[in-house]
Amino acid sequence: MSDSTQLRKPLSSIPTDLVSVADYARYAPSFIPHAIMEYVAGGGADEISLRRNRTALDALHILPRALVDCTAGGTQTQVLGETLRHPLLLAPVAFQTLVHPEGELATADAASVLETGMVASTLSSYSLEQIATRCSAPKWFQLYMQQSRDFTLSLVRRAEAAGYTQLMVTVDAPLHGIRNRAQRAGYVLPPGVEAVNLKDRPPLPSASFDPSQSIVFQGMMSEVPHWDDIAWLQQQTRLPITLKGLLHPADVQKAQQMGLAGAVISNHGGRTLDCVPSPIDLLPSIRQAVGADFALLMDGGIERGTDVFKAIALGANAVLLGRPQLYALAVAGKLGVAHMLRILREELEVSMALAGTPTIADITPASLWRASP
Ligand code: FNR
Ligand code: LAC
Repeated sequence: MSDSTQLRKPLSSIPTDLVSVADYARYAPSFIPHAIMEYVAGGGADEISLRRNRTALDALHILPRALVDCTAGGTQTQVLGETLRHPLLLAPVAFQTLVHPEGELATADAASVLETGMVASTLSSYSLEQIATRCSAPKWFQLYMQQSRDFTLSLVRRAEAAGYTQLMVTVDAPLHGIRNRAQRAGYVLPPGVEAVNLKDRPPLPSASFDPSQSIVFQGMMSEVPHWDDIAWLQQQTRLPITLKGLLHPADVQKAQQMGLAGAVISNHGGRTLDCVPSPIDLLPSIRQAVGADFALLMDGGIERGTDVFKAIALGANAVLLGRPQLYALAVAGKLGVAHMLRILREELEVSMALAGTPTIADITPASLWRASP
């Protein structure tokens, strides 16, 4: 890992041994200062969920059909009323100038070239308007609801005005969780990197805090949204709303019953509560609970075209990529992100062709192998 606290200059061409998404993770530590790398790569507590995200995907197997005519194939798909070139989206990832001076703007350039949907984080290091201007691909806004409803609404209005077409409200990170790896590395947000969208946030009312109270329950958790805030938000905007970070089937059903547009099944890349299942573990029962028509996205550990294939087979309409975009951005800027997305898209095409499933709709639970009981 790099000892320096400085970012290393990104590559301007792609080395010949950089051929997979995991290769970007291998290169990234020489480009990203150690403490930042630990913050990005790390998960919650003992990282059991972080590891599970990979092992659960690896445990699934694809059962191919031979001799299928794939000449009319393609990865195009409809998600949340929009047509996507492929069922891949760039997940909302905060503070991208941590790893590259052009941060989210470079990511937006890559998304535009590869026509890959981008979800801009509330905690972006360039403003949501600057990102929108650079992004000609589908662009969605990830909302962290703020304590002040007025300020939350101002973010929503800005997102609408900037041309974002979906609101993805993240609900699994009212607290950071126990981030021991980042703590051990002494990670703090470096000077100059800030949540510019929140610059005008009104100061929080100074809480009268009794030392006998819990800093978690009466402190931090007193500022976070509940279901009634989501119902309020629905009344404020015409943008479709998805909730990101649901795991319990009953919560996904509740979102569906409220008339929300969809859900992102996610454990925040294993970064919040540790010891939760992987989204891929839960997808089949959640798909069963909500039926075929409710939009379900998922993320966590996606690194291969075969991973995307498996998620779709188990009921996802599309998947999101978190850490891989930061690794690619650090290693080779927008070129890296575009290359990383192209690798995944091509791997997905190859997987579909070799599995005999020429379209996204052809990928079903029957495309996976289950050992006989
Ligand atoms: C995230 N994630 C995240 N999610 C979100 O809703 N808003 C955010 O601002 C962030 N920020 C963020 C920063 C960093 C450094 C990481 C690694 C992740 C979570 C992200 O959207 C996604 O759920 C996970 O990263 C998916 O897991 P993988 O692809 O990283 O394994
Ligand atoms: C994280 C926050 C920013 O995962 O969502 O670090």
